[in-house]
Parts: sequence; structure tokens; C-alpha cells
Amino acid sequence: MKSLKKADVVVIGAGAAGMMCAAVAAAKGKHVILIDHASKLAEKIRISGGGRCNFTNLYASPANYISENPRFCRSALARYTPQDFLKLLSQYQIRWHEKHKGQLFCDDSSQQIIDMLADECDKAGVKWSMETSVLNIDQSEAGWLVETSAGSILVNSIVIATGGMAIPKIGATDFGLKLARQYKVKVVEPRPALVPLTFAQDVWQPFVELAGISLEVNIRSSSGGEFREDLLFTHRGLSGPAVLQISSYWQHGDALLINLLPEVDLSSWLIERKLGCKQQINTVMSELLPRRLLDFWLSKHGLMNKVLADISDKSLRQLGQSLNQWAVIPNGSEGFKKAEVMRGGVDTKELDSKTMMVKKLEGLYFIGEAVDVTGWLGGYNFQWAWASAQAAGQAV
Ligand code: FDA
Repeated sequence: MKSLKKADVVVIGAGAAGMMCAAVAAAKGKHVILIDHASKLAEKIRISGGGRCNFTNLYASPANYISENPRFCRSALARYTPQDFLKLLSQYQIRWHEKHKGQLFCDDSSQQIIDMLADECDKAGVKWSMETSVLNIDQSEAGWLVETSAGSILVNSIVIATGGMAIPKIGATDFGLKLARQYKVKVVEPRPALVPLTFAQDVWQPFVELAGISLEVNIRSSSGGEFREDLLFTHRGLSGPAVLQISSYWQHGDALLINLLPEVDLSSWLIERKLGCKQQINTVMSELLPRRLLDFWLSKHGLMNKVLADISDKSLRQLGQSLNQWAVIPNGSEGFKKAEVMRGGVDTKELDSKTMMVKKLEGLYFIGEAVDVTGWLGGYNFQWAWASAQAAGQAV
């Protein structure tokens, strides 16, 4: 018969938030057991940021997060900042650089972040239980009983750090959401976010030939959100940072409004240059857009190779509007298989924003991506993982 162990805290999920939380709690002297069902440690950190982990964003603030309660993340983010994480990196001599808009990446490899967090856990005396499945969790007068494939553990506190449902093939599950529902803790419906968007085949067919083109655009969704980022045309639809960002706001049925020439008011620009202009419109506009995209758009409007002076103002306005306000309606997304994160999760109304504990269930905590706090692309999701983990780690 498997034995009953006792500990102060069980953390379930040894990813970004779980390792940070376990290390913080153990450093305070708590007896902590860290459980994960995977054999490889923190796969999401490893593959993040193209293998260099965009581990935080210098400008992370509540405005960069989506949640039913946008104020919930304030306290944790204020108490553990990007600078705090940088202090930890400096203790491990991990070199980093800023890429774009405050996004910080490792110079060498995301493995350094995994090794650093694992070392913090080891130094603090965290007990590892990898390749362990959690079979059942029960609350009793004596505490929380966690039944696992490696035996049962009786603890005062359980921290759920099992992340979101993005990329199931590397171990993502809906464990946190199922547990929440089991204990009547409300959940904001989960859906894929930071994900490429797709289109009905007949809608996208004319654009397939644009696959591979990338350019900076301004993008908006009718449900909110607005970003200036790079857009990528693919065979199936749209991707690139612009679409990943807006996908977190996009709802079924919404149109995307894309300004393919955000620096230029094209109708006025063309009409100003039109008088006496004997050049073809393709030549006049050649500096504005990638060649393939320009030719495609001019052909669509029947303007290919036309002399600018011969084109009516009405046609120029139509062309200007279609490039400055291209409206397209996606039919869906590439789903959790391709998403970087999950939007939704444990409803923040159920949690204490200072500790991450479920208000009505003493000793049960949710942190990281399992909570309904979803960051933009650019290091914000890891910053939330670190900050929420610190809040719970200090509190357990
Ligand atoms: P995380 O997913 O890190 O950890 C959850 C852990 O729980 C995993 O180890 C898993 O095995 C374990 N688990 C799950 N179910 C379990 C169960 N039933 N039993 C036991 N264990 C279980 N963010 C960012 O800020 N910058 C970036 O560069 C990137 N890049 C990026 C690339 C890609 C491809 C993806 C998919 C995601 C990103 N992200 C990102 C998002 C980021 O990886 C994510 O938000 C954090 O890892 C979330 O941290 P958590 O600790 O909450 O979950």
C-alpha cells in the first residue's frame, strides 16, 4: 500500500509559475512538493520566444492584460516587477537583450531560465515529483488530501499551476479548470488566444497567392483591441504578431479592420500626385507596399499599369479605402493546437488578488495561465506567471 506523506504545500504544475511559487514558498521554510505529469521540465519555457524565452516586458502594466476584471492583476504585478525578475537573472549571470517594445529575451537559450528556476527550487529544498499524475483532490478537516500515482499527500495548501490548454501535445491540460468546476469555483469560458486566424475557403482563395508576404499594419477588431505590428499572409489565413495580438480580442463574427498603409492616407496621397502625372500607378506606389501585394491589389481594382493622371478620383478613393481600411471576417482560429495561450480561466472574482487564494476555499490557490488574466504577446504572460506565483508563494 502506498504511504501517506505530509507536507505544507503541494504545487501542481512545474512550469513557469509552479517552479517560481514552489521556490518562494520553500525559501520561507515551507515543506513543498512540486508535482508534474510530464517527464520533461517546463517545455513551454523551452520553446518560448523561438528558444530564447521572451521572459518579461519592461513596460508590463495591467493595460497589457485581458481579463473580465482588468484591475485584478494590479496588486501582484506591482509587487513583483520586471526589475525584480532581472535581479534574479543577474544572480545567475544570465545575459539578455531588449528586442522590440520592451520585450526581453535571453542572449543564449531559454534553457537558462528553466535551469535557474530548477536551481532556486533545489536550493530552497523543494521535493520534486515528476511524471506523477494527480488522481483526486479532497478537502477534509485535516487539510487537503492529494492522491497521486506516487502516493497520497496531506497538505495545508494546494497551488494549481497547471497552465492553460494551448499546445496539448506538450502536456497542456484543462486540469485547473476541471478542478475549479468540481469545487464550484466559476470559470470564464476558455478559448485560444495569440493564435492565427482562419477564413472560409472561398473567402481566402483569392488571397492564397499572397502567402509569405509580411508588412507592418494597424489592426483593429470590432470587439476592441488595436495594434501596430507585422502582419503575415499565409495559405490558410492571417498570422504574424498583428493577428496574434488581435486574436485575443476577436470574437466569432467580428470583422478585422486592417490598415495596410498606416503611415499614408492613400486617397489624398494619390490625388495630390495625380495632376499631370504620366507615370503608371504601379511605379508611383512602388515604395509604399511589397511588390507582390501592390500588383495584386491594383489588379483587383482593375488599375494595373494605368497612368495615374487617367484614373478617376473616385477609383483612387476606392483603392485608398480598400488599403487603408481592409475589412475581413475570419471564420475561426487555428485553435489550441497552434495558440500560444488560453484566454479565460478561473474567474478572478473567486480569488483574492493579494494571495491568489480561492476566497471561499481556505488553502486552494490558482496561479499563472490557469487564471483569467491573459497577457499580450511580448513577455507579458511570463511576467504574470512570475508575479502571481510570488503572490501565492509568499502567502501559503
Ligand atoms: P505552464 O504551461 O508553463 O506550466 C504548466 C505545467 O503544468 C506544465 O509543466 C504541465 O506539464 C503541467 N501540467 C498540466 N496539466 C497537468 C496535470 N493534469 N497534472 C500535472 N501536471 C500538469 N509567454 C511569454 O511571456 N513570452 C514568450 O516568449 C512566450 N512564448 C510562447 C511560445 C509558445 C509556443 C507557447 C505555447 C507559449 C508561449 N508563451 C510565452 C506563453 C507562456 O509559455 C505561458 O503563458 C506560461 O508558460 C504560463 O505559465 P504557467 O506556469 O501558468 O503554465
